[in-house]
Amino acid sequence: MNHAEEIWKTLVRATVDKKHPWRVVGFSTSGPNGPQVRSVILRGVKPAERQLLFFTDSRSQKMADIAHDARVALLFWNPRSNTQLRVCGNAAPEASELIVNGHWERIPDYARNDYATLSAPGTALHTAVAGIELSAARDNFSVLKVTVEKMELLQLSRDGHVRVALLRDTEGVWIESGLVP
Ligand SMILES: Cc1cc2nc3c(=O)[nH]c(=O)nc-3n(C[C@H](O)[C@H](O)[C@H](O)COP(=O)(O)O)c2cc1C
Repeated sequence: MNHAEEIWKTLVRATVDKKHPWRVVGFSTSGPNGPQVRSVILRGVKPAERQLLFFTDSRSQKMADIAHDARVALLFWNPRSNTQLRVCGNAAPEASELIVNGHWERIPDYARNDYATLSAPGTALHTAVAGIELSAARDNFSVLKVTVEKMELLQLSRDGHVRVALLRDTEGVWIESGLVP
């Protein structure tokens, strides 16, 4: 198996195995106020479409950042295998109501509450309206799709670190090139 196949397989596994370290992703944006990074959960992976899926609140800062600049960088770190994966891609909210509804239906009630706050996430508590409105939760729920453009893997090892860049050729095949670590 080449590195690209192995990476996509591991990403898929991280959505199934709740203890997999690649499940929690550093998700960075470049917004009107500059760069920002936060942890998010990897919710879905579609290798053929080069897509990674995330759930978020449509009122969150990251959504405004992506509207400003769709380019994002993602960081995965596995301390068990000493493996770092860096991903660059373009993010966009899923536009299909049907698809978003499909994800929403599988979210348990307790987790739906996260999207039901009357005030937007990040609102200062002293100005926020307290309480939740469950009927608004679905409208506040967004599925973010990241289409992967390039990846870089770094495997740390006493026997020698391995650093590999992965880019797509004109036919969409992932091409690997080794880099000095
Ligand atoms: C382990 C962990 C997992 C998280 N998962 C998500 C997530 O899947 N989606 C999300 O929007 N925020 C998630 N958060 C919260 C974000 O890190 C962040 O605080 C929030 O989304 C607001 O970010 P923003 O203001 O930059 O948009 C998670 C936080 C932690 C610590």
